[in-house]
Amino acid sequence: MTDQTTAVEHDPGATDALLGPDSARFRHDYLEARGLRVAFGGFVAVRDVDLTVAQGDLRFLIGPNGAGKTTLIDAVTGLVPATGSARLGRTELLGRGTHRIARHGVGRTFQTASVFEELTVLQNLDIAAGARRGPLTMLRRRGAVPEAVEQALEVVGLAGLRDTPAGVLAHGQKQWLEIGMLLVQDAHLLFLDEPVAGMTQAEREATGDLLRRIGSQRVVVVVEHDMEFLRAFADSVTVMHQGRVLAEGTVAEVQRDPAVVEVYLGAPAQPGTAATTKEDA
Ligand SMILES: Nc1ncnc2c1ncn2[C@@H]1O[C@H](COP(=O)(O)OP(=O)(O)O)[C@@H](O)[C@H]1O
Ligand SMILES: [Mg+2]
Repeated sequence: MTDQTTAVEHDPGATDALLGPDSARFRHDYLEARGLRVAFGGFVAVRDVDLTVAQGDLRFLIGPNGAGKTTLIDAVTGLVPATGSARLGRTELLGRGTHRIARHGVGRTFQTASVFEELTVLQNLDIAAGARRGPLTMLRRRGAVPEAVEQALEVVGLAGLRDTPAGVLAHGQKQWLEIGMLLVQDAHLLFLDEPVAGMTQAEREATGDLLRRIGSQRVVVVVEHDMEFLRAFADSVTVMHQGRVLAEGTVAEVQRDPAVVEVYLGAPAQPGTAATTKEDA
């Protein structure tokens, strides 16, 4: 990581401008999954999952490798067929195509950053913004940088790197760019897959602060295995195991839950050591 990377600070003022100064705009946002089930042939990867996440509740989703975390995200974002129900507010997401779900305000990042490497930071954000602009708006805006893109650059701390090709960004900066792309797409429900893997401590803290600010205005679900990061930033935690929800609560509650300790350590609880091993990479 470069010094430039760690020196970057995300801009809280711009966050208010982009997300709204208070929670009024998205006050009613929540994800509500009921009886969510995904089967691959005869193998059931997600079963009987009930999950409710409200705006303002920064939720971490953890669980051993193969627990079904990514499949759950795939189901809600339309990448794999699922049964049961997954609603954003009153809108049922299951059964819609990925594009309709995205247009309805559901966005995700992938473990491997999926930005356009040859394009600049600004171009990546502009394309993301264009994904929800009609052709007429595109024509009107040609040459001008949309307001939401300018704000997103500030929010994710990449304003100084706007003309840098995304491919040369540090890993952390790519994650921030992806988060910025979700914001300009006006995603109300954001799934982030291991956003701080490979980040420096300073980048982790900047990312945690960023997620807190976004999470106060949007519905945010973070899959993350870094327990220090989880303890610092999670409002609540859902633990999955073998496709089911094993436990849910505050960090302290799930850390002392015997079933969680069993799954992570295969042994009785030892103070301060719960949920630190057997995590997937
Ligand atoms: N496309 C697929 N076809 C068959 N099995 C799959 C597929 N995707 C995931 N699985 C299986 O579903 C289970 C859950 O996987 P996944 O959701 O990736 O777990 P996690 O993200 O919690 O590590 C694993 O056993 C995995 O092998
Ligand atoms: Mg996964």
